[in-house]
Amino acid sequence: MSAVIVVHGGAWAIPDDLAQASVAGVKAAARRGFLAMKTGASALEAVELAVRTMEDDPVFDAGHGAVLNADGEVELDAIIMDGRTLAAGAVSCVRNIPNPVSLARAVMEKTDHVMLTDRGANRFAQSIGIQEVSPESLVTEQERREWEKNRKYSSGVKDLFNSQWGHDTVGAVALDCSGNVACATSTGGIRNKMVGRVGDSPVIGSGGYADNLSGAASCTGHGESILRVTLARLILFHMEQGKGTAEAVNVSLTYMGERVRGGGGAIAVSRTGDWAARFTTERMAWAALEEERLTYGLNPGEAFKEPVNMLN
Ligand code: GLY
Repeated sequence: MSAVIVVHGGAWAIPDDLAQASVAGVKAAARRGFLAMKTGASALEAVELAVRTMEDDPVFDAGHGAVLNADGEVELDAIIMDGRTLAAGAVSCVRNIPNPVSLARAVMEKTDHVMLTDRGANRFAQSIGIQEVSPESLVTEQERREWEKNRKYSSGVKDLFNSQWGHDTVGAVALDCSGNVACATSTGGIRNKMVGRVGDSPVIGSGGYADNLSGAASCTGHGESILRVTLARLILFHMEQGKGTAEAVNVSLTYMGERVRGGGGAIAVSRTGDWAARFTTERMAWAALEEERLTYGLNPGEAFKEPVNMLN
């Protein structure tokens, strides 16, 4: 079985001045996850590493660089899921954890639960020594300025993610050489969200899902829409029904657009390594890395290819 990793940096109307950094960020994340798998890491470890790379990159709405809620605070959500066992871990509303995906993995591996939120998640993080930082250190100057400019929550749904107001989420899916799949998703959510609002990203079956029997998916876009159609699970349902990965993602995004007027995107990989990256927003930075090549894109219909040896 050949390993493959696919990552996204969020589906929204990425402005030109963030385009190059967004593409560079997803390429770096895919490379980190893939190289780990080449040296023996599992799909689960690869998606965690890829998402951590994007959480550390301030161009993305996750970890450092996350958008701010109505009170001007960071509140972060993340999920990770292991397709071998359907084990999943998630955190929501954490404020001072730079890499929520790793805290989500600890919830999965060290507790009997699937999701911890707010102060309970923080208490658990402290108990296991997960890195904590001051919440302010996760806020970029640019996000503080954007938040000052847009102090009111916009209630548009599809339009929200086709405006530069959107900004959204990172994620990764992977298949390793042993045939195991995994997914991870991490986000700061939507700018000016209500305090305590939790979107799709940490919710199993919405922001992500992984099952060795079908594949793995990670979603991005308007969280309330994704939650209503349980987008990640919907994609895998269509794959289980025999659709190819790209068709399963397309059909699911179309359904979300028609049924609840929601815009967004998703990446998915099947248990045989058939992968796709699709979106209904103006742009989504994504990258996929396989044995032979790196493929990446930003605009609809775009897929640039680079030989893998260019990465070395
Ligand atoms: N898709 C991320 C969110 O709505 O929170």
